[in-house]
Amino acid sequence: MFAAKAARSGRLYGVELSDIIERATAAVHAAPGLDALADVERGFVGKKGELTLLKRDLGGLDPDARREAGRALNEAIATVTAIVSDRRAGLGAQAEADRLEAERLDLTESLEEIRHGHLHLVTQARDRLEDVFVGMGFTVAEGPEVESAWYNFEALNIPEWHPARGSFDTIFVDLGEPEEVMLRSHTSPVQIRTMENQEPPIYIVAPGRTFRTDTADATHLPAFNQIEGLVVDRNIGLGDLAGTIEEFVHAFFGGEVESRLRPSYFPFTEPSAEFDISTPDGGWLELGGCGVVHPNVLRNCGIDPEIWQGFAFGFGIDRLAAARIGLDDLRELVINDVRVIRQF
Ligand code: PHE
Repeated sequence: MFAAKAARSGRLYGVELSDIIERATAAVHAAPGLDALADVERGFVGKKGELTLLKRDLGGLDPDARREAGRALNEAIATVTAIVSDRRAGLGAQAEADRLEAERLDLTESLEEIRHGHLHLVTQARDRLEDVFVGMGFTVAEGPEVESAWYNFEALNIPEWHPARGSFDTIFVDLGEPEEVMLRSHTSPVQIRTMENQEPPIYIVAPGRTFRTDTADATHLPAFNQIEGLVVDRNIGLGDLAGTIEEFVHAFFGGEVESRLRPSYFPFTEPSAEFDISTPDGGWLELGGCGVVHPNVLRNCGIDPEIWQGFAFGFGIDRLAAARIGLDDLRELVINDVRVIRQF
């Protein structure tokens, strides 16, 4: 009777099974390798293991007590066996990893950290500009980089004799009549192509590459980028132009930046203006040109200026991209020195 009670509480002839399990657990975890673990296993649950040997003593108990004590002993053996096999799996994985590490052949001489590139600074600026204008209801239009005199000049109200032609420093292509084919000197030809192909109302922006004979310096590049805007609708006037530019400037640069228009001259707009944005130091930065579309330009595209009016604007993307990151030399944008580019 006493023995049966003792067995139920895990005690067998004065031996606490839980003590043995505790010692076995500590020994299992202390075993540094598979061989040491096998020794520990043998010591507790092997043929002559501490727990196994306790079975011999069961014979001296009466049947009820034997059953109880036998069950407790078997549980203890199962517990220790499970702990051993867990540890064996862990040590086995470790041994495998050690073996692989030891056998590993390092075939790489030196492997530089992989760098992720990013879009070109001008592309980033162009994407942001498109996003802002699309958000304002414009769609994006494109045109060819090689143009005829009609699209680059004539349709824009700049006939051959017009002195303004000279101010565009055009790069001509040796094709057809002299000075007939050229690399477009501004994105305004896309205005003409759009009005030829689309009925008003028209709300487009046209970003793209433009070319002039300029020598590259801190503020000029011979191949640069502009974005053109064109709106043709009913009852459009200078106020719509100023409001659109103000709206755009706030959306692109933030609410603190202001815009202003200064009277200017372009053959394809009347009235015409230059537009500037305020700089943090209290000055103004010239961004581009704009104006109300000249009636001749509308007529050249088959649009009746008595019914439709419009405004247009155009500005350089490269200067904007440079200004945004405080780059004081535009040439950095095309030199592609990774030490500069990686910073942005
Ligand atoms: N195309 C002009 C330029 O490149 C800018 C401009 C566009 C001016 C649209 C007025 C209207 O100088």
